[in-house]
Amino acid sequence: MREQAAILREMGYTLWQLRRNTAEHGETPKVEPLPILAGETSAPKAPAPKASVPASAPGSVLSGVDDGKRAAAIAALDWAALTQAIQECRACGLCARRRQAVPGIGDRTADWLFVGEGPGAEEDARGEPFVGQAGKLLDNMLAAIGLARDRNVYIANAVKCRPEGNRTPAAEEMAACRPFLLRQIALVAPKLIVLLGKSAAHSVLNEDRSLSALRGRPLSFGAIPVTVTYHPAYLLRNLPEKAKAWEDLCRARQIIRESDSGMLA
Ligand code: URA
Repeated sequence: MREQAAILREMGYTLWQLRRNTAEHGETPKVEPLPILAGETSAPKAPAPKASVPASAPGSVLSGVDDGKRAAAIAALDWAALTQAIQECRACGLCARRRQAVPGIGDRTADWLFVGEGPGAEEDARGEPFVGQAGKLLDNMLAAIGLARDRNVYIANAVKCRPEGNRTPAAEEMAACRPFLLRQIALVAPKLIVLLGKSAAHSVLNEDRSLSALRGRPLSFGAIPVTVTYHPAYLLRNLPEKAKAWEDLCRARQIIRESDSGMLA
């Protein structure tokens, strides 16, 4: 019930509650925090066993190698080497104007992996994904389902450098960055991937169907279930679509619950 209220509030509805005369009943009004959902503990979860991660490789391993070898080299990087490789990357034209690359943020053992499109001006300045207006909405969406960006959630983007003027990244820019995203997916090994918008969907799923063709369908990346939903920046411009995004998030949460209860095993 409280969870439903949080979702409705986030959708922009004002909630009216019948007021009881608490003084008459001798009660102190109580304010309760949002419930933590099953399987989403407030404390960081104990690190789950992950697919074996190779030993550290230096970022320079990527210089001067061809595309196939580059992808294979990235697929062998550990977190430190991956972050360094992203920060030093010059594989596409986006590097020319970036202040810094924005690798990703959050819990590296998270059950939930959210993927956006690419950094905007604020993300480029701060080096963290989703810190602007769209990020605030994403934080509220996470909070409404009992999540937070640093708690059981990892956030990454399809491209790690800002496309000028916040344009949609070109196919070749997403292709150049894809090995980084694939490595992030492999290292986090989430229980679920939530793809925010078309660029994220196209990059991870490696296909170009429309968002409406992908939303609400049972999709997967390898063995990992995938939910496709609207990008928060789109929702800020199209408020009525928020209701559909909530449907998607509720479906996503159900997938996690089923995974926790062993139903997806
Ligand atoms: N939009 C995105 O897709 N990613 C960000 O990091 C910020 C805005």
